[in-house]
Amino acid sequence: MAAQGRAREEVLSDLRSFKAGDIDWAHGRAPLFVFKGDDQAHEVGREAFFEYFSENALGAKRAFHSVRRMEEEVLDMALDLFHAPESGRGFMTTGGTESIIQAVQTCRDWTREQRGKPGLRGNIVAPESLHPAFDKGARLMDLEIRRAPVGPDFRADVAAMEALIDENTMMLVGSAPCFPYGVIDPIAELGALAQRRGLWLHVDACVGGYLAPFARRIGRDIPDFDFSVPAVTSISADLHKFGFCPKPASTVFYRDPDKARLHAFDFNAWPNGRFSTATIVGTRPAGGVAAAWATMQFLGVEGYERVARELMEFIDRYKAGVGAIDGLQVLGRPHLSIVAFGAQDFDIFAVAERLSAKGWLPGLVQRPKAIHRMMSLLHAPSLDEYLADLRECVTAVRAETAAPSSLEATY
Ligand SMILES: Cc1ncc(COP(=O)(O)O)c(C=O)c1O
Repeated sequence: MAAQGRAREEVLSDLRSFKAGDIDWAHGRAPLFVFKGDDQAHEVGREAFFEYFSENALGAKRAFHSVRRMEEEVLDMALDLFHAPESGRGFMTTGGTESIIQAVQTCRDWTREQRGKPGLRGNIVAPESLHPAFDKGARLMDLEIRRAPVGPDFRADVAAMEALIDENTMMLVGSAPCFPYGVIDPIAELGALAQRRGLWLHVDACVGGYLAPFARRIGRDIPDFDFSVPAVTSISADLHKFGFCPKPASTVFYRDPDKARLHAFDFNAWPNGRFSTATIVGTRPAGGVAAAWATMQFLGVEGYERVARELMEFIDRYKAGVGAIDGLQVLGRPHLSIVAFGAQDFDIFAVAERLSAKGWLPGLVQRPKAIHRMMSLLHAPSLDEYLADLRECVTAVRAETAAPSSLEATY
């Protein structure tokens, strides 16, 4: 650290200059990480965030009643969206990973209590397309994750999952949609399995939670994935992805208060008295809560439907454009805006390498090899440019007999 502080303008100007080497995400060059719905909603979210820049959501219960109120209103809107019964309960967190870890911990504690086995090392049975956030949780809590192969349509294979269940299984998981292929798992069938075997069913709707309901309302083919499926016990859904809210903002929901009671942390055995938080983290930006509230208020159902329509129409054009390039095939039938495509006759990673040289950061799937993008309206304006570059790269790769690409798929 320098002995003397530097001038404000100098510091900020340095900071801005650092961005020069970053990927040009604003023009759709990143295959994930940043999301765009509606420009005005983005501005409202940004202003709301900075309005609550200093407040701490850790103090929502005692000091910042306005933050608590906004949090409750966000959760109420979402409970309604996910067809939760009156008894449903929700919590705001800082991201999909935190929502998932908390749902897993709640399930673990509930299962141990129910089975009278406080030391149970439980396992979670899921399709192999499950997000690694569950493995993070399993590592922290010493649990086991059992991944079953997916079916030929890349959705969870319910029979293959059932074969992995044993007496220590505590949770089944399906995604809506899964990250690698963008398909929604057969949640109703998983629900029937969960009911038959008396298991907790979690739906990871981190990606689709705030897009699928609106895609469905505008007539897209979206299978049941929320609490309308009777066996769904908990749901994780990220506001900072397709809820188009500023980071950090995610949500997690439970059908029953009896299970939700085990979510929060409550502790009193230290000098300072009662410490209770509803999240893993302590200090948490109130800006994320305020911005989520403001974004949802600003867009409303009509706004989210409008964005969903625009986004899904763009995705239709994207899939058609990819499909029209000789040799490329979209994997499965993606339900929303994650699309992966591969090739049978040539190395698709070699295509990704060439796209990378043209400034498109590659998103990759390793099994089967594919190019992957989680798209929002950030990607729409560059569609023609992307497809033209893709076509050129495919033609070049088909013309060469080079060694396979050494690219490694990295999230
Ligand atoms: C299906 C799914 N679940 C969970 C997560 C984790 O979300 P976060 O990065 O907000 O922790 C992601 C992230 O992309 C995801 O795709």
